[in-house]
Amino acid sequence: MAKKLFVKTYGCQMNVYDSARMADVLAPHGYEPGETPDGADLIILNTCHIREKATEKVYSELGRLRALKDEAARQGRRVLIGVAGCVAQAEGEEIARRAPVVDLVFGPQTYHRLPELLTRALDRDGPGGARVVDTDFPAEAKFDHLPEESRGQGAAAFLSVQEGCDKFCTFCVVPYTRGAEFSRPAADVLAEARRLVAAGAVEITLLGQNVNAYHGEAPAGGVWGLGRLIRGLAEIEGLERLRYTTSHPRDVDDELVAAHRDVPALMPYLHLPVQSGSDRVLAAMNRKHTGETYRRTVDRLRAARPDLALSSDFIVGFPGETDLDFADTLRLVREIGYAQAYTFKYSARPGTPAADMEDAVPEAVKAERLAALQQLIGAQQTAFNRSAAGSVQPVLFERRGARAGQLVGRGPWMQAVHAEAPDRLLGRIVPVRILDGHANSLSGAVVTTDEPGNPADRAPAPAATERAIA
Ligand code: SAH
Ligand code: SF4
Ligand code: F3S
Repeated sequence: MAKKLFVKTYGCQMNVYDSARMADVLAPHGYEPGETPDGADLIILNTCHIREKATEKVYSELGRLRALKDEAARQGRRVLIGVAGCVAQAEGEEIARRAPVVDLVFGPQTYHRLPELLTRALDRDGPGGARVVDTDFPAEAKFDHLPEESRGQGAAAFLSVQEGCDKFCTFCVVPYTRGAEFSRPAADVLAEARRLVAAGAVEITLLGQNVNAYHGEAPAGGVWGLGRLIRGLAEIEGLERLRYTTSHPRDVDDELVAAHRDVPALMPYLHLPVQSGSDRVLAAMNRKHTGETYRRTVDRLRAARPDLALSSDFIVGFPGETDLDFADTLRLVREIGYAQAYTFKYSARPGTPAADMEDAVPEAVKAERLAALQQLIGAQQTAFNRSAAGSVQPVLFERRGARAGQLVGRGPWMQAVHAEAPDRLLGRIVPVRILDGHANSLSGAVVTTDEPGNPADRAPAPAATERAIA
């Protein structure tokens, strides 16, 4: 009988991708992914360590799972609980100690070994049984040992091309949880992209903690950067849209800028985290760029693709950040103009250099700065959304909306677009007239879908997917 798998995903898109791949690894062993933990034989929490709150969530979820596991045991059913991802990597042994409910702990680089880890975990109650912890950075590359994807991801798919980070920003755990930078060979990426398209993908987002540091082995020898990889991918028949995330301002080379100019499938939206507008703070963060070099990078990109919209990440209250430093951040935001952005209060992470820095910023000041920054960015986002009213955008419908008869998709600039539309348009790119722009989304009306030759009527609609982005 098929066994039921439930994976709960926290954190970034890399984790979303990894969760899908875990399901692929387990499929040949009889595990079917399900939507809820109820009745599952194996529950995996794919965790995030980036801020303290993210880590705390894991321990509270494990508390809830203990009740579920006990209840199942009373009914004579064995439930295995696994913790994966970045918390597992950072504090594997501590999880094992603090949460006896957990049967196995494994990191982002070892999930290709899941079948073997499971066999050992199932033995836990047997002679010599112990909790299984595998947080190696193995010499073998995980991607060489993963099976081909067992199912598509729907119309908008993720494809991991680069992992790890060598940048060591002083606030960040990623270099420790994900290890050194690694780029997959371009031929592997192209092959996976072709399979995703064959399974219904029309949009692919290339993923990496530092995706534009990509330097993979080229199909005919040599090395491809991200710009070259994007050109190669754009040749795949049926692949209409490409995106990539997350990029670092230091790694925007001329080839990548040229791809924004020359490749129509590369969408005019870029997430380019800056963190702060103060050169003093940027230096303390070890970002290796200044406010000015960031501005120049944005200028180069906008010269290549004038309709490029930008988003970013910001940290407020980094140790030593003064009112003047924060004013520099607000000034940079006003000058650049963002379509969207993520804002965070600095959270000290164990083992990172910034955790030992002096002049911690009081919580109340962090909260004030966060509110001010969010207000400014919120106003920019609303203005950007309103400016879309009256235009016609190609929208890729990805899922049903909350209201009956409504679908939700994304336009080129990543805005969520709601429109009345029949289910058969799921998974297709359809022209939509934007009627109104709101704080977080657009509403529109499908222009027309019935005449022959309309892009909306090209292909049968593949099943839509719900994404779990935290
Ligand atoms: N690889 C990505 C970042 C991944 S983490 C990049 O380099 O841009 C996503 C965001 O979380 C970061 O951009 C940063 O803004 C935020 N972040 C990371 N560590 C943090 C910390 N210790 N406290 C608060 N925010 C943090
Ligand atoms: Fe973290 Fe900096 Fe690497 Fe991004 S570039 S993952 S913020 S260390
Ligand atoms: Fe979180 Fe790990 Fe991603 S710490 S943000 S899940 S790389």
